[in-house]
Amino acid sequence: MKIKNVCVIGAGIMGSGIAQLIATHGYNVNLVDVSEELLKKVKNSIEINLERFFVAKNKITKEEAEKILNRISLNVNKHEAVKDVQIVIEAVFEDMDLKQQLFSELDNLCKKDVILASNTSSLSITDIALKSKNQERIIGIHFFNPAPVMKLIELIKGNNTSDEIVEKSKLFSESLNKTVVTVNDSPGFVTTRLIYVLCNEAINLFTKGIASAKDIDTACKLAFNFPMGPLELSDLVGNDIYYHIGRYLEEELGQKYQPSPLLQEMVESGLLGRKTRKGFYEY
Ligand SMILES: NC(=O)c1ccc[n+]([C@@H]2O[C@H](COP(=O)([O-])OP(=O)(O)OC[C@H]3O[C@@H](n4cnc5c(N)ncnc54)[C@H](O)[C@@H]3O)[C@@H](O)[C@H]2O)c1
Repeated sequence: MKIKNVCVIGAGIMGSGIAQLIATHGYNVNLVDVSEELLKKVKNSIEINLERFFVAKNKITKEEAEKILNRISLNVNKHEAVKDVQIVIEAVFEDMDLKQQLFSELDNLCKKDVILASNTSSLSITDIALKSKNQERIIGIHFFNPAPVMKLIELIKGNNTSDEIVEKSKLFSESLNKTVVTVNDSPGFVTTRLIYVLCNEAINLFTKGIASAKDIDTACKLAFNFPMGPLELSDLVGNDIYYHIGRYLEEELGQKYQPSPLLQEMVESGLLGRKTRKGFYEY
């Protein structure tokens, strides 16, 4: 089965970037979300991104940008959107019930050889697949933000994912010019678990007054050559996102992952970071 057509469900930050990336590499994409208005806005912002970051920087021509855009079709009806595709990539909200329901629906809608992938950043792939009949074709394909730029894809093999699906997903991911790491299923996988622990520990250091936010970030940037410090990163990703990841890891893996009390307080007070213009820093 040669992959030519892809369906991406959820056209938010990740889904729109994934659709742009995939269309750039010659695949046709059906991009699905809940409203036509939202989808039109998303396509418009993909056009702006292509112009600003690729055409203006002479990475692609104006004609190539047009061809990429023409490969992206918009659809609010997932039954239609998955009809002739060889792979579906889900990028809806990070919610276990929503994802389980969606995968069981897709399992019934798609032919047996269609790959069903989740872009979850933390939820167990085995659990996401629990309500589906053909669990062997469900896999995690974890893209990073911004998807067209970041070099890594983390493939997550659920307990029931077949080796054949892992291999096909790896070839597909490599065709997008990404480096692929393959990991076994575990909450947070490798990347999210490690970055959460680092950010949470940085918040603990800050809470205890061991160093200021700026000094913690500067120390990490210069000591480890990180492009960004953990507190800046938490503000950028959203302190609420890290808080929810922490709660999930604590529930699944134990108390060691408990979110810092300060992180909880900040989320309750609406200090979510860049999106609320206040977090560890002011914006
Ligand atoms: N934001 C990141 O940096 C990042 C990085 C890697 C992975 N992820 C993961 O990607 C997924 C999406 O995250 P995001 O940041 O793009 O979220 P987002 O909130 O920006 O977008 C989610 C989109 O899904 C749509 N949606 C919700 N339910 C739907 C349904 N039933 N059918 C169709 N569309 C539906 C929403 O309308 C929204 O447009 C999450 O699982 C998240 O954990 C996020």
